[in-house]
Amino acid sequence: MLSNLQQQPADALLALIKLHNDDPRADKIDLGVGVYRTGDGETPVFGAIKAAEKKLVETQDSKAYLGPEGDMGFVAALMPYVFGKENPDMGGRIEGMQTPGGTGSLRLALAMVQRAGAKRIIVGKPSWPNHAQICKDLGLEVVEFNHAGEDGKVDMDALRAAIASGTEGDAMLLHGCCHNPTGIDYTHANWDEIAGLLANSPIMPILDLAYQGLGLGMEEDAYGLRTVLAAVPDALICYSCDKNFGLYRDRVGALYAMAKDPADLTKIMSNGHSLARANWSQPPDHGGAAVRLVLEDEALTAQWLAELDEMRERMRWVRDKLAAAGVTGGVDLSPIGIQNGLFSIIPFTPEQVQEMRKNHGIYFAGSGRINVAGLTTGNIDKFIAAVAEVTA
Ligand code: LMR
Repeated sequence: MLSNLQQQPADALLALIKLHNDDPRADKIDLGVGVYRTGDGETPVFGAIKAAEKKLVETQDSKAYLGPEGDMGFVAALMPYVFGKENPDMGGRIEGMQTPGGTGSLRLALAMVQRAGAKRIIVGKPSWPNHAQICKDLGLEVVEFNHAGEDGKVDMDALRAAIASGTEGDAMLLHGCCHNPTGIDYTHANWDEIAGLLANSPIMPILDLAYQGLGLGMEEDAYGLRTVLAAVPDALICYSCDKNFGLYRDRVGALYAMAKDPADLTKIMSNGHSLARANWSQPPDHGGAAVRLVLEDEALTAQWLAELDEMRERMRWVRDKLAAAGVTGGVDLSPIGIQNGLFSIIPFTPEQVQEMRKNHGIYFAGSGRINVAGLTTGNIDKFIAAVAEVTA
């Protein structure tokens, strides 16, 4: 039976990790998969997380199952950061559950809307490739609209048309901040308009917030999500702590549902729980417990936020430096300065992507997406020179 299976291509993003590792050149540069790197090119465990992990090891007295919802203390502790301190559950309209990473929450959200009758998921193009992959795996139709125009700004006309074309049973997947892969985010004015359009549309929003704090700040990065939630009757929110707590391999995320009627939440979350049971039964505990311990401790919370500030400032330095290079060879790097988060796209041709790898040992996605955090004082000049040479 198993011989009937067709060979699947390796995931292009994850394959980059191996391609880079296998390159023997000492000055190779990894701008591939989305992990933060310090100025020394390291991806260390946050100090606040290390301290919380120590506490966890010392105080945890059982590893017995917690249930499909995971650590509800973790789920609750995050809510003021995501939804705002003043009204973190929007008057009892929001409930959540822990998931294995942001991918786990997306899987549940998309399976849940499918159970609720959705057939089409409207997604900006380009998007994180796993969005379409999960939809495809579930048999959901992906309807694309253009995310950004030639001018490096969001294509609001395409978004307006996509919302106008939505019908009952459609869901729209929106990146809350730090758009992956373009780094091109909606402005506050854009979000105000989007919220108004969605409020008058049958489309249900699914908001993917995987990079909160890596763009403009924890509060600023939640503006779009909170604005949409204040306007629409119901929504799903997919959250990842992989980046903003540096917990990548520990797989820490959460799914939140916002319902028009709080009485529906029990029913809605029972679907989340049963879907989790059928997929992974219960989420891994360790990373979520560490986040909870950080957020329950004022000093650790302050330490975590300071570490996050440092990451954001370093990425801003990289962005400013690339932007200052301006027109480089045949490409203009200046828009990178006003983009946010880990990623930006440089319009390399497929041949130029290969040349950057082969001639310069510089690895990034075939789409031209670079992880700006892979650039440091030690390698950024080499990168800019390579871009100039390859795109000339
Ligand atoms: C990325 O886009 O590089 C990250 O979100 C990591 C991943 O799982 O793809």
